[in-house]
Amino acid sequence: MSDTYIPDIKEFQQEPRIVTRMQALRERPVVMQVNALGKTFGQGPGSVRALEDLNFQVHRREFMCVIGPSGCGKSTLIRILAGLEDASDGSVLIDNAPITGPGPDRGMVFQGYTLFPWLTVRDNIAFGPRMTERSERSVRSESEQWMEMVGLERFADHYPHQLSGGMKQRVAIARALANRPRILLMDEPFGALDAQTRARMQHHLLQIWEQVPITVCFITHDLDEACYLADRILVLDAHPGRVREIIEVPVPHPRSPDQFLSPAFLATKRHINDLIHPPQQHSAGPKPPRLAAVGDDVF
Ligand SMILES: Nc1ncnc2c1ncn2[C@@H]1O[C@H](COP(=O)(O)OP(=O)(O)OP(=O)(O)O)[C@@H](O)[C@H]1O
Ligand SMILES: [Mg+2]
Repeated sequence: MSDTYIPDIKEFQQEPRIVTRMQALRERPVVMQVNALGKTFGQGPGSVRALEDLNFQVHRREFMCVIGPSGCGKSTLIRILAGLEDASDGSVLIDNAPITGPGPDRGMVFQGYTLFPWLTVRDNIAFGPRMTERSERSVRSESEQWMEMVGLERFADHYPHQLSGGMKQRVAIARALANRPRILLMDEPFGALDAQTRARMQHHLLQIWEQVPITVCFITHDLDEACYLADRILVLDAHPGRVREIIEVPVPHPRSPDQFLSPAFLATKRHINDLIHPPQQHSAGPKPPRLAAVGDDVF
């Protein structure tokens, strides 16, 4: 980032409206509790310690982002939270009960497009609810509501291959929410989208989150995305992935794209950037070799 003066993040975190909001967040019930979580892939000398002693809580209606360098274990973490991967150590509790596998209390949206290609938008969204005891009438009416929520009513009878990337991810969000989960787990859901679509999807997701009482755990490697979306950002270190810091984002709500240049936003971004890439690393590293050693003073 440039050398322009940006105040310290603490100055913004101490603003009364931010203090009040964070206090209210901490007072809400804990939906997800992660205790001493660790994960090792494989055994013996070739094993990989992906996560080490992770401890954190996510509160009801919180929007938490997880950020960290590539390979720090973000996807491993979210797969464990989803129950798709077993932890090697520690535990994850949802509403005080340990998770033992995937469950309807958690909805998942991945970066890759994971819609059922043989089903229409409507039937993709209705897929989960149809597995329950609900009547077909209630399933259909609820699918209509979710399609409206993500702005895809006009595309109800389209198949995934007829949709753009952003539209596919909207269906994926609606499909996850249609199962009425307590927590929405998202692993870089907008990572494959172009910048404009991505910005629209971020804004759209925040609007959904304002309307639907849901807790979100959102993985990203994008600083802007994390600062724009999150109440708190969990920053992970790599090799093994450990919690470096949990940051209370001092950007006021409701969020809007105008805030991307606000001092609070820039201070948050600078703070995380310095955590992930400590300032001394900028000048560190080997010097590039000279291309010619002698007789090269041609300028
Ligand atoms: N199934 C697996 N078997 C062995 N090692 C694995 C497996 N899955 C992940 N790992 C290793 O665990 C570490 C964390 O991987 P993970 O995919 O969770 O990182 P990430 O933070 O999501 O990375 P990225 O930002 O590139 O998506 C990496 O060193 C990776 O090689
Ligand atoms: Mg990943």
